[in-house]
Amino acid sequence: MKATAKAHTNIALIKYWGKRDEALILPTNSSLSLTLDGFFTTTTVDFQANLTRDQFMLDDEPVEGESYQRVSNFLDIIRTMAGKENLYATVHSKNDVPTAAGFASSASGFAALAAAGTKAIGMQLDNQELSRLTRQGSGSASRSIYGGFAEWEMGGKTDGSDSFAVPVAPAQHWDIRVAAVVLSSTVKKVSSRAGMKRTVETSPFYSGWIDSIPKDLREIKDAIKTKDFEKTGSIAEANCLKMHATTLAANPPFTYWHDTTMRVMQTVQEMREKGIPAYFTIDAGPNVKVLYLPEDEGKVKETLRTIPGVTDVILSKPGQGISYL
Ligand code: PMV
Repeated sequence: MKATAKAHTNIALIKYWGKRDEALILPTNSSLSLTLDGFFTTTTVDFQANLTRDQFMLDDEPVEGESYQRVSNFLDIIRTMAGKENLYATVHSKNDVPTAAGFASSASGFAALAAAGTKAIGMQLDNQELSRLTRQGSGSASRSIYGGFAEWEMGGKTDGSDSFAVPVAPAQHWDIRVAAVVLSSTVKKVSSRAGMKRTVETSPFYSGWIDSIPKDLREIKDAIKTKDFEKTGSIAEANCLKMHATTLAANPPFTYWHDTTMRVMQTVQEMREKGIPAYFTIDAGPNVKVLYLPEDEGKVKETLRTIPGVTDVILSKPGQGISYL
């Protein structure tokens, strides 16, 4: 009862920002992302009759505490689905997601865990069922089931049965690139969970955010379909700025940005003034991801690397969905 799966992380172009149900992880808005080739997690799940609790090894180190609990709670959902409540597993995960790149490894981590765990316990889920399950580990992970562009449809039901990701366009559809800009300074981070909660509960800008999502989604899907890079990039950049604006209006107010974050944002806008189409997006942390076209790779990398406070620039292509090894 053993299986291994590989999943890539994703970057949201239309952000998921806010939950309507914290336990089931049901979002207040639909979101859309690009799965990335450069960052992935490989996980082996092995259910064994003689175990009395789960074991979780991350990069060959045993994990306990909150991270262990999230994994074990997620396996509980799989056990319940399979009707095998007392069957525990060893979980071996390897992250090829440089933590410094500021990607949440939770997206690739929970997608790989869901795929390997369900296969190991003997279930055969289709991608929609797998995405719905994965969502309950980490919301953004629901999109990592698919390669290329994927949309997480928020759904409307209270049981979450209609809240899962669907494919929008495969990785082969369009070779756009993402540079992860790594910053030297570390700031104390508000977790995405805590940040969303505070924003939903206190930010007067939150309703404006929600109201603006359907149009952003409609237009970006059109732009992806027609491979309109300027339109895709400008919608993604504006959507990111709106999300971050909601945090500035929260109570107490907070921001994920620091000085180098803003310097990178300005540099991207200056590149555009010089005729290089490049656009930024930022998740719940200070690091910046820059969208660009393959032909501009050299110039984009060079320009980003020379910004004071930037320590590394990691480049990625569109990536594939879940695979079994
Ligand atoms: O799924 P979480 O809890 O890691 O939250 C992700 C939130 C953002 O990265 C900011 C946006 C997104 O859609 O990925």
